[in-house]
Amino acid sequence: MSQALLEATAVSHSFDTLLFANVNFSLLPHQSTAIIGRSGSGKSTLLHICSTFIKPDEGSVKLFGKELSAQSDASIEALRRYDIGIIFQFHYLFKGMSAMDNVEVATMLSGEKIEEALLEKLEIKELMGQRIGELSGGQQQRVSIARVLSKKPRIIFADEPTGNLDKETAKLVMDVLLDYVKENESGLLLVTHDEQMAELCDRVFKLQDKVLV
Ligand SMILES: Nc1ncnc2c1ncn2[C@@H]1O[C@H](COP(=O)(O)OP(=O)(O)OP(=O)(O)O)[C@@H](O)[C@H]1O
Ligand SMILES: [Mg+2]
Repeated sequence: MSQALLEATAVSHSFDTLLFANVNFSLLPHQSTAIIGRSGSGKSTLLHICSTFIKPDEGSVKLFGKELSAQSDASIEALRRYDIGIIFQFHYLFKGMSAMDNVEVATMLSGEKIEEALLEKLEIKELMGQRIGELSGGQQQRVSIARVLSKKPRIIFADEPTGNLDKETAKLVMDVLLDYVKENESGLLLVTHDEQMAELCDRVFKLQDKVLV
C-alpha cells in the first residue's frame, strides 16, 4: 500500500466553543477527498490545521509521514514552499501585478515552469497580461488555481475553489483539479458547501454536530 500523503488522527479544535473533536481521515496519492458542512462548521479551520497554518488543540497531523508538531520552522517552511499548494477561500493575489507575474512568483519560489496547457484548460491564457485588478472575481480565482498548480504540489488544499463560479466554469475547475491529482503523485483535499462539487471527489466526509462522518 502506498504511504498516505496526509494522516489526521484524533484532531480536535476549539475557538470560543468546540468546533470539532476526534477527526480522523487520511489522503492517499491520486485520491480526492471532499469535506462538506454548513457555514461555520469549521471546514476552513480543519483545512488550515491540515495545511500547517493552525496548530490543533489535540491530535496529530502527519504530512508525507512527518508529524507536523515535531517539525522545525525551516521544515514547515519547506513543506509550504515545495510540497503543498493552497487555494484559499479568499484568494490572495498581488493586485497591482499582472496575472502572469502572480503565477511566476509561485513558480520562481518552487523552481517549476508554467505550463501553457494548464492556462488553456483554465481558459485564462489570454488574460495573463492583464492586471489582477482588471479581472473578474471568477477569473482571479482561476489565476490563483493556476498559481497553485504551477508549483506542482504533492497535496492541494482547496477551500471553496469554485465559490465565485457559475456551474459550467466550476465543473471546468474541478476537472482541472481532479485531472492534476490523477496525473501526478498528488492528493486533493477540498472543502466546500457545494455538495454537487463534492460528489465529484473519490470520497466525501461531512462536518456535522462537531464530528466528521
Ligand atoms: N481565528 C479565529 N479566531 C476565532 N474564531 C475563529 C477563527 N477562525 C474561525 N473562527 C470561528 O470558527 C468557526 C468556524 O469557522 P470556519 O471558517 O472554519 O468555518 P467554515 O465551515 O469554513 O465556514 P464557511 O462555510 O462560512 O467558510 C466560526 O464560528 C468562526 O467564527
Ligand atoms: Mg470556510
